[in-house]
Amino acid sequence: MAYQNILVSTEESVAIVTLNRPDVLNALNQATMNELVDALEAFDHDETARCVILTGNERAFAAGADINEFRGATPVQMLQEPRFLQWERIRRFPKPIIAAVGGYCLGGGCELAMLCDIIIAAETARFGQPEINLGLIPGAGGTQRLPRAVGKYRAMELIVTGRQIPAQLAYEWGLVNRVVPAEVLLDEARALAREIAAKPPVAVRLAKEAILKSLDTPLDVGLDHERRLFYLLFSTEDMKEGVEAFLNKRRAEFKGR
Ligand code: CAA
Repeated sequence: MAYQNILVSTEESVAIVTLNRPDVLNALNQATMNELVDALEAFDHDETARCVILTGNERAFAAGADINEFRGATPVQMLQEPRFLQWERIRRFPKPIIAAVGGYCLGGGCELAMLCDIIIAAETARFGQPEINLGLIPGAGGTQRLPRAVGKYRAMELIVTGRQIPAQLAYEWGLVNRVVPAEVLLDEARALAREIAAKPPVAVRLAKEAILKSLDTPLDVGLDHERRLFYLLFSTEDMKEGVEAFLNKRRAEFKGR
């Protein structure tokens, strides 16, 4: 698929997807979401891609859903479009995604960042859920993921006022992993992605699955699930390699098997 709205590249075992609609601050229209899902699913099938970086440009990670697509839309159209199916498909992407966020990260943009597994923010990043100003509420997970990330009270304030917060406050509230100068944003994301890419991929994948499970299951169900995944890893060559390498005081070579 030739992409019009995103740029895709790979650097060794790291895949980079760049949202590329600068004229509209990377507003997420249907075409962009289709391309994003297509690119991610291709990386899922590519054994050499072990970690993904999702980024935008200096001005915006993404300023939300494309509001042009809301004009005149009916509830039935919204229901029938694959709009939220795409978000579900991203949610099920099994490899780690690092969001490298600079500039505006609003509405669906903030929801997209929260769908990622790690968020690195440039000092210039601004986060918010401004849907209230359109007579809407977040529709791609904001009312669910933001309270889980920052707590009920902070999420409530952000969502019902539509205010933006700067990167440093987002960090203090636990929404982002770290804040870095804008000029090193991608380097930081790359370094982290390479570190993750060097780990045994099956274990990384199951770690992601177990952590995501912890957010929507009672503790005992999550612990059972974790235990099964832990047992499963004893069947991998990488686990045997990791243990042997440790015991023989050498560096492990992981193959993803
Ligand atoms: N959809 C469509 N176009 C958008 C857009 C969006 N979400 N955000 C920005 N743009 C466009 C602007 O219309 C403008 O286009 P023109 O040059 O043709 O006029 C261009 O991008 C640049 O934007 P501004 O001139 O507004 O730039 P600014 O620096 O003055 O303001 C901003 C930046 C505060 C982010 C402002 O653009 C803004 O408020 N954008 C809308 C943010 C928003 O409401 N997001 C939520 C969308 S709804 C949603 O996401 C639902 C969901 O949960 C899935």
